[in-house]
Amino acid sequence: MTHPLEELREAALREIESAPDEQALETARIKFLGKNGSISVWGEQMKSLPKEEKPVVGKLLNEVRIAVASALESRIARFRSEKESASLGKLDISLPGTPHEIGALHPLTQMWERSIEIFRRMGFALADGPDIEDEWHCFDALNTPPEHPARSEQDTFYLPDGRLLRTHTSTVQIRTMESTRPPIRVIAPGAAYRNEEINATHGAQFHQIEGLYVDENVSVADLKGALEFFMRELFGPETEVEFRPHFFPFTEPSLECYVKSKALKGGEQWIEVAGSGVVHPAVFEQVNKARGDNAYDPEKWSGYAFGLGMDRLAMILFDIPDLRLFAQNDLRFLRQFA
Ligand code: DAH
Repeated sequence: MTHPLEELREAALREIESAPDEQALETARIKFLGKNGSISVWGEQMKSLPKEEKPVVGKLLNEVRIAVASALESRIARFRSEKESASLGKLDISLPGTPHEIGALHPLTQMWERSIEIFRRMGFALADGPDIEDEWHCFDALNTPPEHPARSEQDTFYLPDGRLLRTHTSTVQIRTMESTRPPIRVIAPGAAYRNEEINATHGAQFHQIEGLYVDENVSVADLKGALEFFMRELFGPETEVEFRPHFFPFTEPSLECYVKSKALKGGEQWIEVAGSGVVHPAVFEQVNKARGDNAYDPEKWSGYAFGLGMDRLAMILFDIPDLRLFAQNDLRFLRQFA
């Protein structure tokens, strides 16, 4: 003879199995397992059963409860997965996807990477310094007197506290010598800022690679050799390089470096690409004073330095007519260098 609990189980499982939707399933759950559901009511009735029947019926009740609960659970899971695959069925997987845009390096970054790679082969290490500087690192230590026009507010962005945005990366020459004994051979790529009228060839922010080489017996010939090698690696072996005398307070003699190459647009024209020179002994003296030693004894050490205009070099190399394009983030422009 079947126990009424077993009949109840059969009825519950049948109802669950034939429930047409989640709503009907919830009704069944309340009917059987809810607080006043028939299985719960059985639990209450257990108390009034004769002692010897309790263990048998208790065990059966437990089995029934578990069977019904798990049937409910698996039926719900089935409803959910049916719903999911129904909505997935509407997906047309033959449609083309949304393509990922593949990025590329900015032309100035490419220029920097190529330049750094060339200098690395010549043994230059990387150095760095802050964009916000003090007057001493930007001017005084570089032998630039207080009355020099570069220091005026017309040319330099000063902060309210007297500091400034560095007007050139030559500041890193000083910072490197302050912290490192000679010999040194470093380049410092970075931004510089000047209060300029902005046009096709001038920006208020521009980019340089500073170079500094300090050793015994460094000469103008070493400087010219290094820059010539760099320009030919960058622009091609047929590139002509010329040096013209100039004035910078921190070098003596000072030279401007020009290039001309038939491989470039406007090939017959000399274009100025760098300032350079032999480090002025007064610069070494300033560094020694700051260090409190004589590590850069001008009698023993000599050096050359240069500052390359990265924006200018990139304009030449990539044939870009206006340097404002570098900062406008126009993808039609940037994609050409991808
Ligand atoms: N700092 C100079 C400028 O921005 C460029 C320069 C000239 C850097 C001569 C040097 C140098 O290191 O020796 O105009």
